[in-house]
Amino acid sequence: MTVQHTGLNQWVNEVAALCRPAAIYWCDGSQEEYDRLMAQMVKSGMAIPLAKRPNSVLFRSQPSDVARVEARTYVSTTDKDDAGPTNNWVAPEELKATMQALYAGCMQGRTLYVIPFSMGPVDSPIAKIGVEITDSPYVVCNMHLMTRVGAKVLEKLGADGEFVPCLHSIGAPLAPGEKDPSWPCAPMEKKYISHFPEENLIWSYGSGYGGNALLGKKCLALRIASAMAKREGWMAEHMLILRLTNPAGRQFHIAAAFPSACGKTNLAMLKPTIPGWKCECVGDDIAWIKIGPDGRPYAINPEAGFFGVAPGTSYESNPSAMDTVREHTIFTNCALTDDGDIWWEGMDGAKPAHAIDWQGKDWTPASQEPAAHPNSRFTAPARQCPAICPDWEKPAGVPIDIFVFGGRRAGVMPLVHEATSWDHGVFMGATASSETTAANIGAVGNLRRDPFAMQPFCGYNMADYFGHWLEMGDRFGKQAPRIFYVNWFRKSPEGKWLWPGFGDNSRVLKWMCERVEGKVGAVETPIGFMPKEGDLDLTGLNLSAADFKELLRVDADAWRGEVADIEKHFSNFGKRLPERLRVQLEALRKRLG
Ligand code: GTP
Ligand code: SPV
Ligand code: MN
Repeated sequence: MTVQHTGLNQWVNEVAALCRPAAIYWCDGSQEEYDRLMAQMVKSGMAIPLAKRPNSVLFRSQPSDVARVEARTYVSTTDKDDAGPTNNWVAPEELKATMQALYAGCMQGRTLYVIPFSMGPVDSPIAKIGVEITDSPYVVCNMHLMTRVGAKVLEKLGADGEFVPCLHSIGAPLAPGEKDPSWPCAPMEKKYISHFPEENLIWSYGSGYGGNALLGKKCLALRIASAMAKREGWMAEHMLILRLTNPAGRQFHIAAAFPSACGKTNLAMLKPTIPGWKCECVGDDIAWIKIGPDGRPYAINPEAGFFGVAPGTSYESNPSAMDTVREHTIFTNCALTDDGDIWWEGMDGAKPAHAIDWQGKDWTPASQEPAAHPNSRFTAPARQCPAICPDWEKPAGVPIDIFVFGGRRAGVMPLVHEATSWDHGVFMGATASSETTAANIGAVGNLRRDPFAMQPFCGYNMADYFGHWLEMGDRFGKQAPRIFYVNWFRKSPEGKWLWPGFGDNSRVLKWMCERVEGKVGAVETPIGFMPKEGDLDLTGLNLSAADFKELLRVDADAWRGEVADIEKHFSNFGKRLPERLRVQLEALRKRLG
């Protein structure tokens, strides 16, 4: 392939000189290329073809390489304060020197793949181009499904177009004659997921998994893009995008930010249980939002596929996801059944009597450990989703009516409440909290603040990000979306979910839409607006009055505790915290009495 872009050619040559691969290969994004690389990985034993699912394979990672690694993720800015208190920081020269030493010769015995990709439809004015260099054919195939790869992107790039260089290596050079393990990667202390937002640059080393390695996703579309968006006056958010159509045919577009493994994919593909309502998926993880010519926020999904949590996915909970992964899907760290299919905890029907677990060991229902890793995932093209919105690739995006924040909390947070103003909504986002999940390597179930579900993904000082949200609201003015906060995960004292969730979440979305339309009123509580009795549609739902009451209960004592904790959270940001958020905190304290 001849590439016109001198800057790109130069960068590839420089990286090759440093990493010393055995070969260089430019990806064209074709099906033939995908099939050929996949066939090579099947032959080498890295991928296991699935008899039961056409064109689908299973990968098993190293037990140390099963999720994002926040502890090894860096935002490297000249001034430490520009990365802020939520990011790991090392000075750019120091981090680059450390990583250059690791990159030296790291692709020995391997092929260096160059992947030109577009985040967003190639012809969208909101889209951005990245080029990932990787030594992992698994990454190449995943990028094929998750982004738009190849010739069309190079064409748009032309001779001097702008792109984000994304350098990735699994960090496992191969000596001559050495046998390649089925999931090569570097040990934890050598993994680095580094971002240099001042020069729109990404360097990742040592991991082959998900957000650590598919650099278009969290690294470019969130960390680098959030910093770009701040500079350029738009928004890059960890949000699903869906279109909800009411029985009268009115469309509402909702963008919702929940932390990792807290329900975005499921809400994005929701099958409403209330008659006459229709939901279509625009995106399941990331939204890029710009102000349109009419002053409203317009969102695109920068991705082209889903990298979804497998466990818990079933025809019962998410039929659209199950249909999406019937073919042409990459599964990672799921269990393998004896008849050549995948399996995970929470799938429909009986457990298999025997399976091979995600570590390649025999598994039976009597086993102590889960068969699939809790962060096992499927990678599938978005176009395979039966609920995909016909406008999901519309270059201009879809106009957002409603923003939703949320998280996973066993107590305190009610099923739904609404902000009384934009500033109050930004306060809700800035103070969002959630129990940690298996999407990151670390403790699971620990309550933490996860502002806007961006704690692991904000590429600059989070206090400035709060300020950016306030500023965007000022620019939206009267066209600003309404803001809500939800919690599908409140539990009874016995530890069971109080809310059925999944398709029944449509009932909560319906209330939001009716609020926007002015069809229903609300009760004003100290924490915000909440549904009036009878306004939340519970028709046909088997929910006890006591459970419903508990779902909406605002415990003033517990909320006073929240205020104290929010105060601590805010103090991390020092003087950089916008005054308007302090005003919100004081107002909440006062309302609680
Ligand atoms: P990332 O891809 O990590 O960003 O996660 P996500 O936010 O897309 O989360 P996802 O929709 O994949 O859900 C994660 C887990 O939560 C899965 O096991 C789901 O089955 C479960 N889940 C999703 N929605 C609900 C819900 O409404 N109620 C309950 N109880 N569980 C849910
Ligand atoms: C998340 O953790 O929010 C994900 C999965 O969407 S990963 O791509 O691994 O970051
Ligand atoms: Mn995510």
